[in-house]
Amino acid sequence: MLSEMDQMKRAVGEEAAAYVKDGMKIGLGTGSTAYWLIRRLGERVKSGLNIEGIPSSAQTEQWAKEFGVPLTDFSRVKELDITIDGADEVDENLHLIKGGGAALFREKIIAQAANELIIIVDSSKMVTNLGKYPLPVEVLPFGWERTANEISMLGCVPNIRKKDGGNLITDNGNYILDCPFDAISDPARLNEEIRRIIGVVETGLFIGMADKILVGNGKEIKVIQKNKAV
Ligand code: A5P
Repeated sequence: MLSEMDQMKRAVGEEAAAYVKDGMKIGLGTGSTAYWLIRRLGERVKSGLNIEGIPSSAQTEQWAKEFGVPLTDFSRVKELDITIDGADEVDENLHLIKGGGAALFREKIIAQAANELIIIVDSSKMVTNLGKYPLPVEVLPFGWERTANEISMLGCVPNIRKKDGGNLITDNGNYILDCPFDAISDPARLNEEIRRIIGVVETGLFIGMADKILVGNGKEIKVIQKNKAV
């Protein structure tokens, strides 16, 4: 039996699969909402849909293989028609915080490579201002303590993400610093300031990248388009 939250995730994930058309190259996001997308795409592939996807994480790659979604990579594909992915926060300008699943770097690559970025969330992810969710930042392991100290000068106390008793290691062999800024007044500026620090690989701030947000609230799925955000 799915929780109410998981039912919302399922509804938006499955709805997003309807945006995928025959012949498309798709960026496949990471997370528990993207799971439902991948599962539904697998069903559509079995019914004859011809697509190829590039996964944003080892977990997504595993699900795609399990559900029968054909995969490709950037040695064979220059750009993607659509990327569909979850998010941890979405603000009123459609800026995002991502990286709760530690996949932000590959997620940003497939987001940038896509002609359209569709974000799938339940309504709890919609916020007025970003920052309640600690901002994930992927950093190189070498000197990460120094990198964390540099980030702290911008107004937070970064926490190194842990897993199984050690530091979590991303699919790219790096670490994640979770940075609780509380309220981010200028996300674009903060993104640039963090990216300038040597040792930072990428931030979980996705600025101006999302084209469409599908929001599940339990009753319906609301579609918010870029430039039409309230
Ligand atoms: C992965 O690194 C994240 O960016 C996810 O896309 C994000 O955490 C959303 O995950 P859920 O769909 O599991 O909430």
